[in-house]
Amino acid sequence: MSAKLLEVRGLTRTFTSRNGLFGRKRVMTAVADVSLDVPRGQVTGVVGESGCGKSTLARLVLRLLEADQGQVLFEGVDLASLSASAMRRLRRRLQFVFQDPYSSIDPRYTIRAALLEPSQVQGEHLHAAAATDRINSLMAMVGLNPSLAQSYPHQLSGGQKQRIGIARALALQPSFLVLDEPTASLDVSIQAQIIALLEKLQQELGLTYLFISHDLGLVRYFCDRIVVMYLGRIVEVLPSADTPPRHPYTIALMESTFEPDPAKRRVITRLNGELPDAFNPPPGCAYAARCAHASDRCRSERPALVLRDGHELACHHPPT
Ligand SMILES: Nc1ncnc2c1ncn2[C@@H]1O[C@H](COP(=O)(O)OP(=O)(O)OP(=O)(O)O)[C@@H](O)[C@H]1O
Ligand code: SF4
Ligand SMILES: [Mg+2]
Repeated sequence: MSAKLLEVRGLTRTFTSRNGLFGRKRVMTAVADVSLDVPRGQVTGVVGESGCGKSTLARLVLRLLEADQGQVLFEGVDLASLSASAMRRLRRRLQFVFQDPYSSIDPRYTIRAALLEPSQVQGEHLHAAAATDRINSLMAMVGLNPSLAQSYPHQLSGGQKQRIGIARALALQPSFLVLDEPTASLDVSIQAQIIALLEKLQQELGLTYLFISHDLGLVRYFCDRIVVMYLGRIVEVLPSADTPPRHPYTIALMESTFEPDPAKRRVITRLNGELPDAFNPPPGCAYAARCAHASDRCRSERPALVLRDGHELACHHPPT
């Protein structure tokens, strides 16, 4: 069995926009030539500030959005080569947990109906007793009282709704979960509980996670490997959570720690300087305008992502 559950090769996705009805068409690259491996049974983190392309990458990986270029291989099979029915079968094994649990639970459905829907979409219809057993075990798995199954989403707290979002993702016994900022909309104490639940499920069920967050402190706490993105590109891959970062951007992000008090946490968006305009990116390193080490070469030549001793880095002059 390969150590890699999922491989992403050269994924690229652009979006176009127009200024007004007859305005000039403008193109931006939300995800640019991204390649990464997701090892089986591990938590791979993707971190970067708002707008750097994390959610676009997540949707491309699950084929919820089509790529302009590149491939996603799951257990060595190119997802784009699968027929619609083969992709539907594979969907059982690849699931998504969203930041906002509302987006995955229909407010008109009871929790019971929401938890049974994934198997119905797969064409599986359980008898009432088997369905109740399934619901009870899913609710227990995510630490909720099964009596809540008769409730509607608006009757649940934010933390309970996210537990239902996770239970729904687990309903088809997946092997791989993409978690896109699953705790970002929750209070800090609830956030810690959801992270603890995700850790427990990952270990008990042997799951593989791609965990997306703008909080490097949280990613370092939770993930085995860390992929750092800046303006649509990977700038550094730390092979373990305690590998010292070498990219000036990652070093700056380090100052945002997993601090329980959000008021004390340095938010990534408060780093010095602004992100470049994605519709008009600079020719060299995208971080140059904010980087204390930038040289003329940095402003004209984009640094390639280079692998050395398991550590990938895209920087002309790493400070250490
Ligand atoms: N459907 C779309 N149409 C046009 N532009 C889009 C679309 N989806 C994303 N974008 C743009 O692509 C870029 C990357 O967006 P994305 O949502 O992937 O970032 P993100 O890292 O997930 O940000 P956040 O932390 O705010 O969730 C942004 O500039 C965004 O405006
Ligand atoms: S390539 Fe240059 S500008 Fe970019 S991060 Fe490295 S030193 Fe800074
Ligand atoms: Mg996002």
